[in-house]
Amino acid sequence: MKRSVIIGASAGLGRALAERLAALGHNLFLVASDQRDLAPLAGDLTIRFGVDVTVLAADLYRVDAGLIRERALSALGGVDNLLLIAGFSAPAIDRGAITPEMVDRMITINLSAMIQVVNAFLPELANAQGGNLVGAGSVAAVRGRRSNMVYGAAKRGLEGYFESCRHWLANKAGARVQFYRLGYLETQMVFGQKLPFPALHPDAAAAAIVAHFGQDTGTRYLPRWWWLVMTLIRLIPWVIFKRLEI
Ligand SMILES: NC(=O)c1ccc[n+]([C@@H]2O[C@H](COP(=O)([O-])OP(=O)(O)OC[C@H]3O[C@@H](n4cnc5c(N)ncnc54)[C@H](OP(=O)(O)O)[C@@H]3O)[C@@H](O)[C@H]2O)c1
Repeated sequence: MKRSVIIGASAGLGRALAERLAALGHNLFLVASDQRDLAPLAGDLTIRFGVDVTVLAADLYRVDAGLIRERALSALGGVDNLLLIAGFSAPAIDRGAITPEMVDRMITINLSAMIQVVNAFLPELANAQGGNLVGAGSVAAVRGRRSNMVYGAAKRGLEGYFESCRHWLANKAGARVQFYRLGYLETQMVFGQKLPFPALHPDAAAAAIVAHFGQDTGTRYLPRWWWLVMTLIRLIPWVIFKRLEI
């Protein structure tokens, strides 16, 4: 039986991945901040799919990666797949100066907590033959804009770390690395926002991510058509780009 750890599993894409992996028979270790979301999810997955599901309520803003690793290993007996899905953005305010606390929160949840968790699991990932390390980035990280300034920077940093993990794991018989520059998803993160492009359902995103398990894909767009959009945005000359409200 495969063993998967999902960080940010109680909602949106993380929850869709938990369901999909449970349906495939994976035993799961799920992390999010609220036990009231995690406990019913674990019960539901156990009943529907007959898998073992252990949860840990932990705030990534005050992450203890050693504790997550210890609890996951004790529950699962090892790890094949580590999926770092949690993210935190505040597009309404993340433009120009924001409070130091908000800068710290966005950098911690999107970048440093993620690095701490991956770092804690590197010994397992190095030996997880057939396993996967999956990261959730964002198209917001591809070209810096006056919106999502700190969020975009944190996700770009995360992308860099995953690139390094891919290189570190490449000469080992361990996990393979897949990092996604995600476009809009139909989740609470974009609730109420007017979006310029269609949003992908989290179930469809989860299906695509699981379909790529085992592949050494590195960084890719999800959905793929965002490649064209972001390539065109990157090609816009600065004299025009600086006037655009995007
Ligand atoms: N939605 C989009 O349009 C979009 C676009 C581009 C990239 N992304 C990225 O895609 C990933 C998934 O997004 P999503 O829309 O599915 O997110 P979501 O619906 O907001 O769910 C986020 C998950 O992360 C957990 N989480 C957030 N902050 C946490 C914290 N401090 N401690 C512990 N857990 C925490 C949440 O649990 P709690 O509620 O318990 O905190 C939840 O389970 C994120 O990395 C996001 O940045 C999303």
